[in-house]
Amino acid sequence: MENNVLEQVSSYIYNRFCHDATGHDFYHMRRVAKMAKRLALLEGGDPFISELAGWLHDTQDPKLTENLSEAKQEVMDLFEYCQISLEEQEQILVAMEAVSFKTGHRIPRSLEGKVVQDADRLDAIGAIGIARAFSYGGAKGQALHSETSEETTIRHFYDKLLQIQGLLNTPSAMEIGQKRHDFLETYLHEFYEEWM
Ligand code: ADP
Ligand code: NI
Repeated sequence: MENNVLEQVSSYIYNRFCHDATGHDFYHMRRVAKMAKRLALLEGGDPFISELAGWLHDTQDPKLTENLSEAKQEVMDLFEYCQISLEEQEQILVAMEAVSFKTGHRIPRSLEGKVVQDADRLDAIGAIGIARAFSYGGAKGQALHSETSEETTIRHFYDKLLQIQGLLNTPSAMEIGQKRHDFLETYLHEFYEEWM
């Protein structure tokens, strides 16, 4: 039953995000879902709720959807189609809320919300995080780096990526994040050496 639901949800997400070029593609959703499940298992949260909320975490982001109420209705229809109980629906929506909305550093209300937020943040650092940042920068026509103070992708490292390790909610995410954070620093070190 749970596997069936996860299959339905992942194919909905595939159809919705397969053409995304803003760093929110299907594989981002899949990594967040898998990482949220892994963190839930380590932290004692509900792995099924966390994985589902991971798959769905970007479906109600205003910057990724033209019609927010339609996007919300699609998720409700999907819940109904998958016969997800009302209690589980509520838990999934609570777990998605702090991730979906740009409310600064809002701390999620549930453990499942915390692991989904952590999983989303972990995907912005490490080797994949660096690739996503340069891909986003390229799509926006932003320079890699600059010696003046314009918006660049290297500047995004300081504005956001290097802060992430200090914002993680759970000890398990902090452990995984440390290696990725160190990798950002190593990367920057090499970058400046090559920049000359
Ligand atoms: P999310 O919706 O997952 O919280 P964002 O939409 O802020 O994240 O960012 C999506 C991806 O694009 C992330 O990997 C992030 O690091 C990258 N990104 C966002 N803003 C910038 C920027 N100004 N320069 C480079 N990369 C960016
Ligand atoms: Ni995301």
